[in-house]
Amino acid sequence: MAQFVRNQWYPAAWEQEVGRDLLARTLLGEKVVLYRTEAGAPVALEDRCCHKFLPLSMGALKGDALQCGYHGMTYDPSGACIRIPGQASIPPMARVRSYPARRHLGMVWLWMGDPALADEAKLFQLPQYDDPDWTLSCGPYTYVKACYQHITDNLLDPAHVSFVHESTLGSPASEDVPVETRQDGNSVIVSRWTYDAKPIPLLEKFADFRGNVDRWQYYYFHAPSIAIVDFGSGDAGMGDSDEDRDRAVRIYSCHFIAPETEQTSHYFWFQLRNFAPGDDAVSKAMTEQFILAFDEDKAILEAVQAAEREASERPPVKLAIDNGPTRARRLVERMIRAEEQATIDAD
Ligand code: FES
Ligand SMILES: [Fe+2]
Repeated sequence: MAQFVRNQWYPAAWEQEVGRDLLARTLLGEKVVLYRTEAGAPVALEDRCCHKFLPLSMGALKGDALQCGYHGMTYDPSGACIRIPGQASIPPMARVRSYPARRHLGMVWLWMGDPALADEAKLFQLPQYDDPDWTLSCGPYTYVKACYQHITDNLLDPAHVSFVHESTLGSPASEDVPVETRQDGNSVIVSRWTYDAKPIPLLEKFADFRGNVDRWQYYYFHAPSIAIVDFGSGDAGMGDSDEDRDRAVRIYSCHFIAPETEQTSHYFWFQLRNFAPGDDAVSKAMTEQFILAFDEDKAILEAVQAAEREASERPPVKLAIDNGPTRARRLVERMIRAEEQATIDAD
């Protein structure tokens, strides 16, 4: 059973990871080698020479071309073989797959499906990223030994925050506050407000509240594997419109996931905030806090994945808080089936 939506842009690496050294990475079960041309454009080729299948990531760059480390077959950025040492003619089949690659939001994104369908307009848009009113702080590349859907479940699940992130993002005041779920096209939104409560530890460190706060959590899932968490707090009674939230202490916590295999994932994340503009010390301290918090998620998710691998007669018990993640999985499932149907129709 196919587990991935393929006709999508997926983040493969932070921009700074992709340079003139070859980077091997597996996405959606496919081995890819990444590098930059001399002019700086990202290139992504199938990491498997068409001759004896040596990974091309064991080869070397020759200008913008990649030379295999075994017998020197050389491929240009389109994946076409342009040289076979000791042989004048190049068979038409002598090529490797080339993936459309784009730099966007500080990452290199690959189109993992049919290259003919690659569409820049489908790159995820995040207006705050280029807005000077918002300050960026970036996390490290994070490798998670769990299926991307366990990660997206977690990113549509405000209820776990009180229990997993007590020292950073959690508040006991939210434990019994129910969540609301709605769907909008290929997005699922789970939200809740906790009123007149103590600020969460992370915001208490960076903001100057008078006393109790109103706190919002809006989790936006964009199928198949992007999640933006809009959260923040203002003095109790702040109001709950978008403008009210802009006037309060607001963070967009942005999460981009690419499946490596069915049980492992590449995870990229950053925050955009509307306070302490351009303050590097605050950026650094915030990233440290989020590393702490996301390491807590990683430990949980890897343990859940490991437990799932153990055979069990009992299906999981569903709770009200699973409504959002369940809808998200259904949405992804429909996208996968639609792609399968489109392939059948085209044959
Ligand atoms: S394996 Fe690459 S050229 Fe022979
Ligand atoms: Fe979490």
